[in-house]
Amino acid sequence: MNKKVLGVLASGRGSNMQAIVDAIDAGRLNAKIGVVISDNPNANVLKRLADSDVPVTCIERKNFAAKEEWEAAIAAELNAHQVELVILAGFMRILSPYFVNLLSGRVMNIHPSLLPAFPGKNAQEQAIRYGVRVSGCTVHFIDEGMDTGPIILQEAVPVESDDTAEILAERILHVEHVLYPRAIALYCEGRLKIEGRRVIILEKGEELYED
Ligand code: GAR
Repeated sequence: MNKKVLGVLASGRGSNMQAIVDAIDAGRLNAKIGVVISDNPNANVLKRLADSDVPVTCIERKNFAAKEEWEAAIAAELNAHQVELVILAGFMRILSPYFVNLLSGRVMNIHPSLLPAFPGKNAQEQAIRYGVRVSGCTVHFIDEGMDTGPIILQEAVPVESDDTAEILAERILHVEHVLYPRAIALYCEGRLKIEGRRVIILEKGEELYED
């Protein structure tokens, strides 16, 4: 099967991007990163790739008058690298309906809570404040809402009574690094079918036809 081309959008540390690179290198993910795009010139994710042959670029929001112009520049860069699936990996900006519709069903996000609980910013702190005993992470396709798109995979982690948001974030992050490559692999194998709000995971042998 042909390797799917991924485009990664990331704003910060880039540990999820690294987990995806590692999964590709280990042969767990039959994909190729076509381009990594950040909105933040100081993002650690860009430094991580400085010595690699993965094309990296920074497209800053402040250089465009309108949000859609900025998003069109990102979409053009993704197209220029023949990206088939867009991976939001700690991308800390909300994408408009314009971008969502342009790439409908082809943009995944990871969020550090069990959605629909605790969407938006500081999900781990929200979980601690609420007092839940279990949180986790969710990989989903994006739609026009905030962390509301069809859910692909979720995994739970315990919340301990003395957890700080940082400790919980670290515990969840370990799981993210396994879950995200697994969800991307399912997509690359043609095994994800979106039906309304639900994502059906097809058995091997039932894969969707390539378009
Ligand atoms: C991850 O925990 C990811 O789930 C979260 O940001 C972190 C990025 O870490 N994303 C969100 O909160 C999106 N709403 P990373 O840059 O090391 O991958």
